[in-house]
Amino acid sequence: MDIFCRGVKPFPPLALTEVAFWLRIMRDHAVFLYHGLPSTDKELRPEARQFYAIFTDLEECAGRAAGEEDFANLVAAATVAVQRFFVFKRRILHLLAECRLCGAWLYPLFVDHLSREALYFRKLLKKFGGCGMPCQVDAVGSEHIFWARGIADHMKFVRDLVDPSERALLSMATATGQKFDLLNLQARDIASMLWHYRPNNDLVRFAKDFRTAVQDANDFAATAGGLVACCTAATVIPPLLADHVRREGVHCMEVLELIRRYLLAGDDGLEGEQDDDEE
Ligand SMILES: [Fe+2]
Ligand SMILES: [Fe+2]
Repeated sequence: MDIFCRGVKPFPPLALTEVAFWLRIMRDHAVFLYHGLPSTDKELRPEARQFYAIFTDLEECAGRAAGEEDFANLVAAATVAVQRFFVFKRRILHLLAECRLCGAWLYPLFVDHLSREALYFRKLLKKFGGCGMPCQVDAVGSEHIFWARGIADHMKFVRDLVDPSERALLSMATATGQKFDLLNLQARDIASMLWHYRPNNDLVRFAKDFRTAVQDANDFAATAGGLVACCTAATVIPPLLADHVRREGVHCMEVLELIRRYLLAGDDGLEGEQDDDEE
């Protein structure tokens, strides 16, 4: 189920490396928002700059963290920051949705995407103390949905920053985006069918296909990033965005590896209390 659903939490356990990864991602988002907001803006741009400073500081804290107490303090501070950042992103999104941010260079879907990642991070932080979803297969399903939608978005954002003359790059980005749109739909079907149950062979096969597709998308992102870095393709993709997409793709593969090991180990179904509430 979608990350916006009440009970959905990320699959990975809360670890320092996860927190450090997402803090860096949040810092990048602050840069994207700052540069995408109108240059005349006197309120939102300074706020984006503040978030950049906040997440830079938190990243430094993560780098210094040693021991449980430091980690607990980091999680508490990051939770407050990411909650505020999520609200900030949604505020920008709502202004865009009602055409009240003239001169902004931000797609509404792009800001929605950034807000989904903030929400994912906030929910990950809420796993402090080890509390995940009652049924692991639901977390697996939700994870596939989150990343399938996210990677489909990445491909669309990249495609729209490629010069129209770069026909091969454009068609590759379009085809990969469409592939992940389909994977998103399939992930939703499987997650729905197995909700509150346990993995089956269909899920194992889907997870394998999904990993292959993500690896292909990562190879494409690495190639595109290399072309941007060497100025050998006509695009207006900022190098930071290319690198950001590449890092998220690599991180997705790490999460998928955790899922692969979980599926390999087998799961007999519910471990905790079954919650029949609709999400
Ligand atoms: Fe991101
Ligand atoms: Fe993303």
